[in-house]
Amino acid sequence: MKTSGKTNKSVYDRACNVLTGGVSRNTIFREPHPYYVATAKGSYITDIEGVQRIDFANNMASLIHGHSHPAIIEAVTDQLQRGTAFTMGTEAEVNFAELMIERSGTFERMRFVNSGTEAVMTMIKTSRVYTKKSKVAKAEGTYHGTYDYAEASQTSNPDNWGDIDKPNVNQVVEGTPQGALDDVVIFPFNDIERTLKILDQHAEEIACVLIDPVPHRVGLFPATNAFIEAIYNWTRKNNALMVFDEVVTYRVNYGGKQDSFTVKPDLTAMGKMIGGGFPIGALAGRSDIMEVLDPRGKILRHPHSGTFSANPISTTAGRVAMELFDEEAVLNLNALTNTAIHQIEEAIKIADVPMSITGAGSMFRLHLQASKPTCYREAFQTKEKKDLTNELLDYMFLEENIIMINTGACMFATSLTQKEVDRLSGALLNGFKLIKPNLDKLS
Ligand SMILES: Cc1ncc(COP(=O)(O)O)c(C=O)c1O
Repeated sequence: MKTSGKTNKSVYDRACNVLTGGVSRNTIFREPHPYYVATAKGSYITDIEGVQRIDFANNMASLIHGHSHPAIIEAVTDQLQRGTAFTMGTEAEVNFAELMIERSGTFERMRFVNSGTEAVMTMIKTSRVYTKKSKVAKAEGTYHGTYDYAEASQTSNPDNWGDIDKPNVNQVVEGTPQGALDDVVIFPFNDIERTLKILDQHAEEIACVLIDPVPHRVGLFPATNAFIEAIYNWTRKNNALMVFDEVVTYRVNYGGKQDSFTVKPDLTAMGKMIGGGFPIGALAGRSDIMEVLDPRGKILRHPHSGTFSANPISTTAGRVAMELFDEEAVLNLNALTNTAIHQIEEAIKIADVPMSITGAGSMFRLHLQASKPTCYREAFQTKEKKDLTNELLDYMFLEENIIMINTGACMFATSLTQKEVDRLSGALLNGFKLIKPNLDKLS
């Protein structure tokens, strides 16, 4: 490829003069500088210095078909020529909502927003209006975006996480109002007994129990059906809602991870991949609850808008992406991911490293510990482990030209094939051997 003559470092130097820390999202930061994309197609990204890498991060799980899928480009190009945002509706949002409601058994009504953070925030506020209560219960360590209530205790660590029977509600950002933290209840994921005891202590005040059914930061392992049933039953008894954050996990089955459970959430927040590569969020669920957003109501109970909500670019791209991600595509992608997991487990054995791998559907995460973690506290990485993870990921990125997520996770796309999976497992084997001496010392 013809390169621009610019270097990643020179662009970063310019970026540092205008963007705080040289970046607009911390996710892309890496030492000594981030890398800048020139072009991307399918599962391959070429940076401005002409280096091509295989992409297993897919913009943090948001590109289910990889980069620049021709059908999405064609549909979006057509819409671009007819306008991008209006103070009017478009049929694009209706078409997309019809598709999603047909796809998922629990969706009766929907609203589109612009990000996963906004979808989760709208879901929490909708739950509060509906139940007339204010507290949110969430699992320790889960990431649900950056709304004050949704982010509490996302970064809890051994110094501040407190007793497992009553985990502390910790702020992520200094200056978070104590009032916000007082309205959050933290429970240990998948721990039925403790969670129910904790919820009982706040039964009168909990509006919703917020669940990511395969929480990445907790360790990327699924909620058990028994846990979900217990939460569901508790919410039925206590005038509370069970709400799912499927911003990432909607990919796991055709109708989201919720398809795997015997009971279903009242509301679901989505985002990332349902935008087909463009910014999106969505809230869907029971029509009697969603009604609080209805502008036709006598009282406007939850005035909800958003300048770019349901813009026709995101809803068109999203519709095409979801049409392509049909039942067969979901199964094929999950099968390819499963093959990758087996090959990596084999590499772990060959390299003889104390490591394990967890995941669901088309995603997995590596752990620098021999036994798979079963809770946030077990999955928590010490600074030494984080440094080793970074060493492995830097090796993958710089020497093997493979992009993974900074936790050691991969989020697959339908553009990947067995060829890229073989490259991934072969490269990881080399990486495991590289970190083995230091990893053995830690174990
Ligand atoms: C589970 C989950 N919920 C919500 C969000 C927030 O989504 P967004 O980055 O689109 O605001 C994320 C983002 O990574 C996520 O992983």
